[in-house]
Amino acid sequence: MSNGDVLTFDIQKNPSPATASEREALLQNPGFGRIFTDHMVTIRYSQDRGWHGSKIEPRKALALDPATVVLHYAQEIFEGMKAYHLPDGGAALFRPGANARRFHNSAERLAMPTLPEDLFVESVRELVRIDREWIPTAEGASLYLRPFMIGSEAALGTRPATDYLYCVIASPVASYFKSGASAVSLWVSEHFTRAAPGGTGAAKCGGNYAASLSALAEGQREGCEQVVFLDAVERRWVEELGGMNVFFVFDDGSLQTPPLTGTILPGITRDSLITLARDMGLVVREEPYSIDQWQADAKSGRLREAFACGTAAVVTPIGKVKGSKYGFTIGDGNAGPVTGRLKAALTDIQFGRAADKHEWLDRLF
Ligand code: PLP
Ligand code: COI
Repeated sequence: MSNGDVLTFDIQKNPSPATASEREALLQNPGFGRIFTDHMVTIRYSQDRGWHGSKIEPRKALALDPATVVLHYAQEIFEGMKAYHLPDGGAALFRPGANARRFHNSAERLAMPTLPEDLFVESVRELVRIDREWIPTAEGASLYLRPFMIGSEAALGTRPATDYLYCVIASPVASYFKSGASAVSLWVSEHFTRAAPGGTGAAKCGGNYAASLSALAEGQREGCEQVVFLDAVERRWVEELGGMNVFFVFDDGSLQTPPLTGTILPGITRDSLITLARDMGLVVREEPYSIDQWQADAKSGRLREAFACGTAAVVTPIGKVKGSKYGFTIGDGNAGPVTGRLKAALTDIQFGRAADKHEWLDRLF
């Protein structure tokens, strides 16, 4: 089937969507990833037909054979992006082409077929358009989109599947953290690492998140909300959180973030913030930063602020860092001014309150 055919979606409307009052009640307090819209996208891949059968259909459970490849060997990748409600009643995606490219790169790393990038973007646009009533209008809330792909062949041999299912679901969300915008505490994972050189750290695959959960559980037992991972070779260099990149702000006004060496996810928020910081005239370095230096700089006051960033987390200040050998507070433990300015610059563009000079918004209606 040609790409042209697969770009045309067969639209099967949900015959019993949520009523307006049910939807309104759910949108009162959406949390993160707990409620879902009425529809989903599905596209199938098989070796003989390639990508085919693009559909918008009522959201429903997937029927999988118990021998399905993804259930055993975790051949799965995903993306995370948001649709934002604009002041004039329209809506936009933020840099969807960048998510499409990263999904392509993740597919290559997991030996999966690559979905054409225009098909990825169109699938997300179609879902937002049909479920547009679910885009929250409350301050800071948005419609989180979760495109994903699984090896759907039923076979237990360890080799790439011959068949795949690509799917997009949508979830209205508010803040990722229960504490809202206040600063989060981090646990330094000294025993568990997230990604090694040559591994899958730069791909957005489910296995990376499974591998991070014991560290997260350990951190939560220690009273922390998130975990910061160190590099797997020297156990010294700060890499990223389980689902967010990290930035440091120094007393001379400069910023630093770990470089993309292959073990870190290349965040689209990270990339956007580097651009916005440079637009503000700030110096941004993509250089390694050690956990010992972080502690020393926080204690001396050379380090003024630190924050985590990602689609789900947006920009979240880091207040405290703790580990078996570490314990320090950043600044006064609350959000700092540079963090606040960068968050405002990013979200003002995403929510259509500021000029979009980098042409990052993809307007849907
Ligand atoms: N790092 C990891 C491990 C993530 O899961 C995410 C979230 O997607 C990020 C960083 C931030 O990426 P992005 O800004 O593209 O959402
Ligand atoms: C995202 O920010 O989109 C992610 O995938 C991170 C995850 C922890 C929700």
